[in-house]
Amino acid sequence: MKTIGVIGSGLMGNGIAHVSALAGFDVILSDVELARAEAGKAVIEKNLGRAVAKGTMQVDEVEATLARIRLTTDPAAFSDCDLVIEAATENEAVKKAIFKGLALKDSALLASNTSSISITRLAAATDRPDRFVGLHFFNPVPVMKLVEIIRGLATSDATTAAMHAFCKAIGKTTVEALDSPAFIVNRVLCPMLNEAIFALGEGVGSVVDIDQGMRLGANHPMGPLTLSDFVGLDTLLSVMHVMQEATGDPKYRPAPLLVKYVEAGWYGRKSGKGFYDYSGETPVPTR
Ligand code: 3HC
Repeated sequence: MKTIGVIGSGLMGNGIAHVSALAGFDVILSDVELARAEAGKAVIEKNLGRAVAKGTMQVDEVEATLARIRLTTDPAAFSDCDLVIEAATENEAVKKAIFKGLALKDSALLASNTSSISITRLAAATDRPDRFVGLHFFNPVPVMKLVEIIRGLATSDATTAAMHAFCKAIGKTTVEALDSPAFIVNRVLCPMLNEAIFALGEGVGSVVDIDQGMRLGANHPMGPLTLSDFVGLDTLLSVMHVMQEATGDPKYRPAPLLVKYVEAGWYGRKSGKGFYDYSGETPVPTR
């Protein structure tokens, strides 16, 4: 495997491009507008700069990594890729339309970084269900060690083996999850975050106390409301909707406050406001 395509240069896409290029792969990073792809590459440069500031990476290594990342808006640019990873918005129709527009070589593997949509269903919308797989990365991608590998019904053993090898090459540890709503990590994590939002809405604790409670009482690196803002409230809501619709189980109903914040355009850190306001130097609780 030599060339990796990454579709979507947002939070997850630029992280996937970052770790792939750092591991020596040539990367083609795409977005709908060149300006967005450039913004994604600027984030990669900033995040690589952290290592330079700490003295764990040389400037020429950063430059070589960045030089391996080519930006595009053209779906035809993926024709030479050995693996293409889709990390576009968490919307099934958008993802399926992206797959339809790709012209890949026959041997190319296609992966989706979806956090909850059925891999079997996405695979069925492509010309290569046996070479289609779920590769679920975690935010921030350069730091988080895990990648979940999700096999669709038709995913071949060879495709799965190639994904384990790729993840190892980019320094990640893998777990295999069944193609079941939200897979392993989000199945457990997102209801916990949603529950914290219910608790906030019911006045059980303040934003600061709920976060502090889980940081100090359960040893979580981030409190659940900080983590919800970090993941993106729109993404969290979409995971809860997928789980609720797929299972019909009311235990997955989204907290009303989560729905309200998303309706207000309060998506968390990426929009500047969620359970905290990020416009100042330090985040301030919004209620
Ligand atoms: N890129 C590169 N490096 C980064 C980074 C980024 N975006 N963010 C942080 N880092 C590095 C820092 O440089 C630092 O490196 P060092 O240890 O070598 O000095 C290290 O990560 C720790 O960062 P900080 O000291 O700034 O801050 P913290 O110690 O608070 O760690 C954190 C930050 C790693 C984000 C930690 O708070 C954490 O683990 N939070 C939980 C994250 C989590 O749960 N993610 C999963 C979300 S769920 C998901 O993504 C799935 C999706 O489908 C919803």
